[in-house]
Amino acid sequence: MTTPPPASPPRALLGTLPPPSGPPVAVATTQPPVLQARDLVRSYGATRALAGVGLDVGAGTSVAIMGPSGSGKSTLLHVLAGIDVPDSGTVACEGREISRMGDVERSALRRTRFGFVFQFGQLLPELPADENVALPLMLGGVRRRDALERARPWLDALGLAGMHGRRPGEMSGGQAQRVAIARALVGRPAVVFADEPTGSLDQGTGHEVLQVLTRACAGSGAALVVVTHSDEVARWCGRVVHLRDGVVVRDEVRP
Ligand SMILES: Nc1ncnc2c1ncn2[C@@H]1O[C@H](COP(=O)(O)OP(=O)(O)OP(=O)(O)O)[C@@H](O)[C@H]1O
Ligand SMILES: [Mg+2]
Repeated sequence: MTTPPPASPPRALLGTLPPPSGPPVAVATTQPPVLQARDLVRSYGATRALAGVGLDVGAGTSVAIMGPSGSGKSTLLHVLAGIDVPDSGTVACEGREISRMGDVERSALRRTRFGFVFQFGQLLPELPADENVALPLMLGGVRRRDALERARPWLDALGLAGMHGRRPGEMSGGQAQRVAIARALVGRPAVVFADEPTGSLDQGTGHEVLQVLTRACAGSGAALVVVTHSDEVARWCGRVVHLRDGVVVRDEVRP
């Protein structure tokens, strides 16, 4: 049994966001796993994108995935999120094995338990910010008015109180990414997946967005799996997993 998500962001989230230059949030890394991956192998022809990856992600914790281009970061994220299927190995979310699900069950899991933030292109350009955030709820059957009512406090919590009616093209890149973060969180997912969410932003804005992303996930209790090239990310994530040639070569948990 799952309880229906509350109508607005938790008070804790509203209380902890940002200030952008504040101290990093301490993130617990010893929670029961929300994701459990074992022996993941994924090849594209002769290329082994994943060559035996095992990874547990604790509920509500944040994990940064780093590594050189082509090391398998995006492939790992896609397999963990049930977007891609491994050749062998298993992924379980909250104890349910994703690898055993059919397409319909897997897409329902993605819709209800996961949120996604990508580099760009995820917002619908013709819709204002509040409708972009409300969209996943409406697609899940929530009435438009109720969906908008639930969406707007997330925009406020993410520092976009005056921008509910702006379209993505009328916002800065950093503001648009905050809308994308609100949209990823509005359904109260167990895990947010982000693949280079700051890749199209300048460094300063990128850091600010990463900080907002990690704090918003921590504030709402969602785990975060974020692929990034930013060395600074360790400041905001509880753990950094380094990939090389499809295997985990280092797994640093912040003290
Ligand atoms: N759809 C695909 N078809 C063929 N090869 C692929 C495909 N997707 C990924 N690969 C290959 O698998 C390997 C891992 O790719 P992946 O996209 O996971 O790397 P990455 O670490 O995310 O790199 P980047 O930092 O450049 O985004 C690479 O050698 C890549 O060329
Ligand atoms: Mg990639």
